[in-house]
Amino acid sequence: MMTTKQWRIVEEQSSEQSADALSEQLAEAAQLLRTGKLVAFPTETVYGIGADARNSDAVSGIFKAKGRPSDNPLIVHIADVSQLNGLVHPYPQLASRLMEQFWPGPLTIVLPVLPDAVSPLVTAGLATVGVRMPDHTAALALIRGAGCPVAAPSANRSGRPSPTTAAHVLEDLDGAISGIVDGGPTGVGLESTVVELTGPNAIRILRPGGITAEQLRHAVPEAEVDAPPPPTESAAAEAEAPRSPGMKYTHYAPRGVMEIVQGDAAKVAAYIEQQVAAAKSRGEKTGVLAFAERAPQFAADAVLSYGSESQLAQAAQRLYAALRQFDAEGVQRIWAEGCEEQGIGMALMNRLAKAAGNRITQL
Ligand code: TXA
Ligand code: MG
Repeated sequence: MMTTKQWRIVEEQSSEQSADALSEQLAEAAQLLRTGKLVAFPTETVYGIGADARNSDAVSGIFKAKGRPSDNPLIVHIADVSQLNGLVHPYPQLASRLMEQFWPGPLTIVLPVLPDAVSPLVTAGLATVGVRMPDHTAALALIRGAGCPVAAPSANRSGRPSPTTAAHVLEDLDGAISGIVDGGPTGVGLESTVVELTGPNAIRILRPGGITAEQLRHAVPEAEVDAPPPPTESAAAEAEAPRSPGMKYTHYAPRGVMEIVQGDAAKVAAYIEQQVAAAKSRGEKTGVLAFAERAPQFAADAVLSYGSESQLAQAAQRLYAALRQFDAEGVQRIWAEGCEEQGIGMALMNRLAKAAGNRITQL
């Protein structure tokens, strides 16, 4: 066990002065990254566990700390597009347009990687690398300070829900990493959207996330945007041919057995009520995750609210904390209301389905 240092960042006005103050606060964290240590940091999506992407010893430390399978590649984080120069082959105009529209932001673009630009552990031996520029002042200052591309998967133990607070990171990784930058709760709450370019005007979403399919279509109207099928149909297809290697693993899962219930709100509520009653009579500790409009009506041991169903972005922000809360309360059976697969709802349903091991009931 090592001691995990903590640096608490207080959000300030984005003046030049505070930018200097920020890099000063993060100097030690940046120095640790530069010397091959692991440092967790906030992004706009979830917390990441960072390492110098060029340093195989450092990167292998990530896999060890997370208990992550080695065939699942890592996303490389940059603070400036100029960092792409030594990292990837010249890329098509479609890639530049996505960068202009969405960086910094929750979009990871998979591009052909230059030989020896990053540790082969980062790419898991693929000829491509996923790159993104996070929309978070502390993350950008840290990457800039480190002066290297930073490989950073979500800062959870493999299989656990991704961390949206520094406390979540410490739950999983205290003593296993050199430090953590605490920037408070993250804004988006779900990971970045991962895309690959399948043609000069074709984008395939490999993992739905913070940037929606609708946003991509709006930003590049001439491009074909191929979105994955909803979780109910995609489970079998994914098992056959996982394209984004990470998508094949059970992810984001709470310890309790979870089921997603999707469809007509009244039917969904009635079904959940009946299931909760049955589980309680079997002596099981029950949990329900529901929208604020219906949460008060459930009689489970732990009832958590997504917030209003008219604010799916807030539901996305709250999801992972809720899953961890069920664990903290020792809940054995969980029912979660599903949502429509539109906008951020697509990523939300994707993560819910993963958390539930694809146990989805449609009513
Ligand atoms: O929002 C995020 O993306 C967060 C924060 C920390 O930036 N990071 C994150 O990393 O979610 P991770 O390692 O938990 O997920 C990376 C995903 C995996 O599904 C992985 O398979 C996919 O990106 N990926 C990475 N490189 C890839 C590549 N070259 N080709 C296809 N998929 C790739
Ligand atoms: Mg992850």
